[in-house]
Amino acid sequence: MSNVFVMDHPLIQHKIGVLRRIETGPKEFRELVSEIAMLMSYEATRNLPLEEIEIETPIAKTKVKQIEGRHLGIVPILRAGLGMVDALLTLVPTAKVGHIGLYRDPESLQPVEYYCKLPSDVSERDIFVLDPMLATGGSAIAAIDFLKEKGVHKLHFLCIIAAPEGVKALQEAHPDVPIYIGALDERLNDHAYIVPGLGDAGDRLFGTK
Ligand code: PRP
Ligand code: URA
Repeated sequence: MSNVFVMDHPLIQHKIGVLRRIETGPKEFRELVSEIAMLMSYEATRNLPLEEIEIETPIAKTKVKQIEGRHLGIVPILRAGLGMVDALLTLVPTAKVGHIGLYRDPESLQPVEYYCKLPSDVSERDIFVLDPMLATGGSAIAAIDFLKEKGVHKLHFLCIIAAPEGVKALQEAHPDVPIYIGALDERLNDHAYIVPGLGDAGDRLFGTK
């Protein structure tokens, strides 16, 4: 699994432990998703290329590093991916944000697209696709298929909890896309929910159901 990175930082593991709990309500759930996304994006952006520029401090001229002139983009998969957006924007405030709305049909388990709005220059950007849950992988694969059709060729996928089935499917469909995972769980159940997982991430974030 060369392109798969499971984050083992103690802060991420601790926060995911609280996130999973049935008694964690929407307010705390949202805060935790955001905090975990921030910690994960610190790792996921580790390989962004840097360039050297000359600046002047109050004392002297010097060379410093800055992220290379490329532009970043963030694409949450609605709804649950929205919970991860602010964290990335805090770290990379110049990133543009696109949205892809997908829901999983409860019968077929296939992703159904209902919304899409992307930055006009999306194909020139290094895109971070966000979704807390990677279950069958159908939603992530559909979102990445769509972004590639729009000409995006540099993609990363960030999820908080993944099932092995979803990781395998996403890797097979898009071997070029690195997958950053907070916790790799045991399996899917008969309804394609992640076990032990955390239930329905969208409902828990927004207090629906
Ligand atoms: C959840 C989750 C992912 C998808 C994962 O969204 O946020 O997008 O399921 O499942 P998959 O890997 O099997 O496709 P859901 O369809 O429940 O929509 P929601 O975010 O609006 O609740
Ligand atoms: N979507 C969720 O929100 N949770 C799961 O366990 C699987 C898909």
